[in-house]
Amino acid sequence: MAERIRYVGQLYDANRLVDVWCKDWKNTLADVPEWYADLIPDRVLAYLDPPYLEKSQKLYQTSFGAQGGYPDAPVSDLQWDDNLLHYRLAEYLNHRMQFRWILSYDAKPELLLDSGLYAANRMDPNRIDRELLGVKRWNIAKRVVTLRYTASARQGRGAAEEVLITTLPPSTVPLNDDFRSVSSILKSEATSS
Ligand SMILES: C[S@@+](CC[C@H](N)C(=O)[O-])C[C@H]1O[C@@H](n2cnc3c(N)ncnc32)[C@H](O)[C@@H]1O
Repeated sequence: MAERIRYVGQLYDANRLVDVWCKDWKNTLADVPEWYADLIPDRVLAYLDPPYLEKSQKLYQTSFGAQGGYPDAPVSDLQWDDNLLHYRLAEYLNHRMQFRWILSYDAKPELLLDSGLYAANRMDPNRIDRELLGVKRWNIAKRVVTLRYTASARQGRGAAEEVLITTLPPSTVPLNDDFRSVSSILKSEATSS
């Protein structure tokens, strides 16, 4: 970890990094337009890699647990069936985000079927946010990718899949063997139910 922090320092010294913020996702996203107003809306891209919908309390000390944000409680005390923060993040990205975003998640059909998560194919800001903050009605593209370097792949449990969801312009989002359509995940859900 110390080595990774030193590396961040080197990037900063080389002018390859302008800022490092350590704060909750919502404050971070809300502060970007304030600090980098000139780059909004098209010259900023947020990459978000939130805790997985499943199993995240086992993986991260600070998962999207019941208490929200960065809970003080030990991991074992978290109530993982409370998915509130996943819904809050989706609500923010689908309705209020002022710049482009790309999001990675575990490849769960419910993520793409639930209208409170990422079922929509277009952002849907309200009129006030459109007019006052300039929030756009960007298209939302979704792809499935295979992770080649995960622990599950190394342990022979098969390659894991993730979904990428993004408001990058559709013409820039590839559709090929590496960035596949999400229909395979949705079909497997339809056959199993
Ligand atoms: C999937 S991991 C990200 C891994 C990272 N992309 C990397 O490659 O090291 C999810 C991260 O979200 C962080 N996290 C949890 N709750 C958060 C919150 N409310 N705001 C910001 N980050 C949060 C966790 O600490 C965890 O490091």
